[in-house]
Amino acid sequence: MNVILFGAPGAGKGTQANFLIKEYNLTQISTGDMLRESVKRKTELGKKVEIIMTKGDLVSDEIIFSLISNRLNNTDYTNGFIFDGFPRNLKQAKKLDEMMYDMKINLDFVFHIDVDEQILTSRIENRAKQEKITRKDDTSSVLIERLKVYNRETKPVLDHYSNQNKLNVINGMGTIEEVSSNISNIIQKDFKVD
Ligand code: AP5
Ligand code: MG
Repeated sequence: MNVILFGAPGAGKGTQANFLIKEYNLTQISTGDMLRESVKRKTELGKKVEIIMTKGDLVSDEIIFSLISNRLNNTDYTNGFIFDGFPRNLKQAKKLDEMMYDMKINLDFVFHIDVDEQILTSRIENRAKQEKITRKDDTSSVLIERLKVYNRETKPVLDHYSNQNKLNVINGMGTIEEVSSNISNIIQKDFKVD
């Protein structure tokens, strides 16, 4: 089973990815985590993307495609993938379609974790207070930019998946457990898990 977790910054993509890893033993591919790791390790890539990420803008499609294709080539085929934070624009969505077609794997579900902007803001503010190492983009001014980018570049991708009949809108405003159970109910209904 291969799924996309789609949603605005702070919607709960990473949180629900953890649930899907535990519940269905899927492999998470989070472009944000991969990029942050290269910034932390101060690699060439990290140096290139750091300023862009700190501003809340999208890094280039070329960088993302090379990250994703390396990761897909180097991962054992377990029970499938969770794409977290990818695709983020229409070009990336089309590229993922091509990659999956070439690999002869299917995209089973796109879950749009839908959360009001006010709640997103308070979640990001909470995370910034709680985490030991605060993300540089977890400030109110960068969040405004991340939300703008999401609305402009990323949200239109929803139509792409709606046209493919893959889109499931999940109310992301309940508790973490409620959101997990909404996701799980759809999977159980439509997918035979061994
Ligand atoms: P990325 O790392 O993908 O960040 P994001 O989309 O801004 O989302 P977050 O990771 O902040 O939120 P989340 O949805 O994972 O929520 P979480 O579960 O943490 O991208 C970062 C940057 O990298 C981008 O801005 C861009 O520069 C670059 N980038 C990444 N991918 C790219 C791509 N494909 N193309 C180009 N550039 C790319 O939850 C948030 C908080 O809320 C947590 O504290 C959590 O505990 C809490 N929470 C979660 N669910 C609930 C709930 N139900 N109730 C209460 N609290 C909750
Ligand atoms: Mg995340």
